[in-house]
Amino acid sequence: MHNKPSVNILLVDDEPNALKVLSAILREASYNIYQADRVDRAQEIVSTERIDAVITDLKMPGKDGLYFFDYLKSNYPDIPVIFLTAFGTVDSAVTAMTEGAFFYFIKPPDYVKLKAVLAKAVEQKKLKNEITDLRNQLESTYRFSNIIGKSASMEKIFRMVETIKDSSTNVLIIGETGTGKELLARAIHYTSHRHYRPFTAVNCAAVPRELLEAEFFGYEKGAFTGAVSRRIGKFEEADTGTLFLDEIGELELALQAKILRAIQEKEIERIGGSKKIKIDIRLTASTNRDLKKEVKLKNFRADLYYRLNVVQIKLPPLRERKADIPLLVTHFIDKFSQQEDKRITSVSSEVMNIFLQYIWPGNLRELENVIERAVVLAKGDEIGLRDIPREIIRDIKTGIGTDSIKSLRELEIETVLKALSKFQGNKSKAAQALGITRKALYSKLRGAKA
Ligand SMILES: Nc1ncnc2c1ncn2[C@@H]1O[C@H](COP(=O)(O)OP(=O)(O)OP(=O)(O)O)[C@@H](O)[C@H]1O
Ligand SMILES: [Mg+2]
Repeated sequence: MHNKPSVNILLVDDEPNALKVLSAILREASYNIYQADRVDRAQEIVSTERIDAVITDLKMPGKDGLYFFDYLKSNYPDIPVIFLTAFGTVDSAVTAMTEGAFFYFIKPPDYVKLKAVLAKAVEQKKLKNEITDLRNQLESTYRFSNIIGKSASMEKIFRMVETIKDSSTNVLIIGETGTGKELLARAIHYTSHRHYRPFTAVNCAAVPRELLEAEFFGYEKGAFTGAVSRRIGKFEEADTGTLFLDEIGELELALQAKILRAIQEKEIERIGGSKKIKIDIRLTASTNRDLKKEVKLKNFRADLYYRLNVVQIKLPPLRERKADIPLLVTHFIDKFSQQEDKRITSVSSEVMNIFLQYIWPGNLRELENVIERAVVLAKGDEIGLRDIPREIIRDIKTGIGTDSIKSLRELEIETVLKALSKFQGNKSKAAQALGITRKALYSKLRGAKA
């Protein structure tokens, strides 16, 4: 199965006979063969052809196989290299293996084995390429282009991220709920040189307290009842990448001390383990609490606060960056129109006016939800007043913000809309999920519109 005709192999050897034999054998196995009798020529070929694997002699006059290997490593790190070597040069071949060469054979090679190894090398390269493609897609999702913002405050944040992204300093991201703290943490990671390493997030508020320590540090088999096998914690998982501690303000004091130690000593111990494990992580943390105040109240350790707060980025609430609202509205409309397979392109000017006046206590998340709901409800190509939650309009009229406590009626409407959106507007399915009749659903929906 591995002998696909489109696989390109480059053979490099100064001995014409060796090239001849090997290329005949590999052509027989349906590989497409390029040949070079010196490294200069081989360099030319890799720069003009898509080469899937290289088989090279080690000792050659002029630039030798090791030189070529180094060249490939820095310019085409994805191309696997297999060495052919004479008896006297095995040592160098072994060294090359430790530096990432795929395999080496002593001349004359066992051709059956060589073909098997080559097939494996080609397969591995294919896999690497696929993963790179996926990564690229992910990266483009998290690049700054996906954090929408053109207000002065957001531009300042983008510049800040540019400056600090490649350093390993800890970053504390603060801001009200829904201001984009997690999105920013991801952006910092995916624009940094650690971007091809793991981004690992722990939500300190979501994991039950008694499980958090194990979540952070992992455990050894038998560390406690139920620890039936070893588990790696998030600190280890994030090694060489970024660990994002979401809602760090919720962390209890005992764990704060342990986190501090891990950061300071750059090493951790699994629960029930005795071995210290080195870790290299970039730490980002976020909170919507006023951590400084929590420090004064002795709910948060001052030393940990200073450790985390090396660089602080404050995401302003949406009401303080209204210049971003039109851009965000368009962005979310596009997103949900596509998702719902609708052709909505804009909001009416009345709606935009309301959006610009409203105080957005739930910030970008609230705006996102409002647009999602409106896109589900809207008929035609424009979002109108009737597609906007009544509370928002009422708040604008009466000039008050929204209470943080919602009325049961509001919660009911929200739930109904959530169900509708989940079932792509299918009212029967939504009604069934809500345990009400279709008729009841309709009447609730009528109530939802202003
Ligand atoms: N600048 C932005 N551009 C586009 N979308 C954004 C932006 N900021 C936030 N969002 C979106 O708003 C939603 C909330 O963002 P996020 O989860 O990052 O907020 P948060 O500050 O972590 O909220 P919380 O404090 O509630 O955890 C997400 O869906 C996110 O994609
Ligand atoms: Mg968050």
